[in-house]
Amino acid sequence: PRTAVIVVAAGRGTRLRAAGPKALVDVAGRPILQHALDGVFRMREPAQVIVVAPPGRRDDAERIARACAGAASDYVSVVEGADTRQGSVAAGLARVEDGVDVVLVHDAARALTPTEQLDAVADAVRERGTGIVPALPVADTIKRITGSAVIESTIDRDPLRAVQTPQGFPRALLDAAYAAATEPLTDDAALVTAIGGEVATIAGHESAFKITTPWDLRRAELLVDAAPA
Ligand code: C5P
Repeated sequence: PRTAVIVVAAGRGTRLRAAGPKALVDVAGRPILQHALDGVFRMREPAQVIVVAPPGRRDDAERIARACAGAASDYVSVVEGADTRQGSVAAGLARVEDGVDVVLVHDAARALTPTEQLDAVADAVRERGTGIVPALPVADTIKRITGSAVIESTIDRDPLRAVQTPQGFPRALLDAAYAAATEPLTDDAALVTAIGGEVATIAGHESAFKITTPWDLRRAELLVDAAPA
């Protein structure tokens, strides 16, 4: 494959208040990781898929990944993640095969991301040769506050975007960004812009929200139940 997708699923999911790691929590009877991988394996062009598993739960992740991959299982590998998301991505990046020139990094927690969004990011990276991130306009009014929670100012939200995944990059650019990374930043695009790399946005999708809280889990359940089988 020319494209690799690193699916980071090693988070503890503390904010979800579930018993185990978030990626193994069920949504409508199937683990979050399985929902996420279903979308990845429906991509138009077959990709190398690297699942970054919760520490100590490699076997569970492996079983889910093999089941989702079906005939494409030659292209799947599973590695254990690290304490930080950045460390988990680095573990996945180390497994990208020769010949891959575009790498997508995708949160397993964005389990209901439409396959079209994965295809669109991969296509846009190839077309433009830059990093590509799906993004949505910010709906709420955004305020800057002081240490004592008093409003200081209102931020113009026109140029603001909330970003999602997959975040896609030319492989060499992402490798260079990770090689140069020092302090932890919150997403891959931030590491790439820190070394002067260009990252453009394309339209995101409401369904690509990140399952973070019990409320998000409920929303995901409702969406899966409402979807045509
Ligand atoms: O914690 P948060 O929801 O921001 O994590 C986003 C994604 O990164 C999730 O899919 C999570 O599993 C993954 N992650 C990881 N390793 C960590 C922390 C988060 O793979 N140490």
